[in-house]
Amino acid sequence: MSKTTPITFTLNGGQQTVDVPPMKRLLDVLREDLHLTGTKEGCGEGECGACAVLFNGELVNSCLIPALQSNGARLCTIEGVSTDGRLHPIQQCFLEKGGAQCGICTPGMILATHQLLDKYPNPSMAQIQEGLGGNLCRCTGYMRIFESVQEAAALNPLAAK
Ligand code: FES
Ligand code: FES
Repeated sequence: MSKTTPITFTLNGGQQTVDVPPMKRLLDVLREDLHLTGTKEGCGEGECGACAVLFNGELVNSCLIPALQSNGARLCTIEGVSTDGRLHPIQQCFLEKGGAQCGICTPGMILATHQLLDKYPNPSMAQIQEGLGGNLCRCTGYMRIFESVQEAAALNPLAAK
């Protein structure tokens, strides 16, 4: 029987405590223990960004992080981006501009956009490409995704909370 350790963190604005085995990945704690399945597993090796979450405001790949490291942290997953059942403006733009292409990459793309617009409310195309550089699309292409980010920035430079 593996030993577990209780950890506490802020998750999508609420306090959360969970018992975790020492090396359990944050990705698995989110999906299996907390049933937040919006965070996806793609490569499992830190290469694709499908598992991206905001960790103290910074975009990280949760497949690379032992959940123990989250003790005391402030986490935001895709489930925490909308408010009161209303889509965040970034999500709305991804829907309307066709940037929401598949369920695997989209959550990470939206969280990467969230962080990008926090840092650069009016990003250049180069900044958009760099900001989303850790998030891979293996199928449809990036143009609609980049257009969605441009739309979100144009709609409201302060869209990202
Ligand atoms: S699943 Fe974590 S980076 Fe690909
Ligand atoms: S991997 Fe999601 S649209 Fe390409």
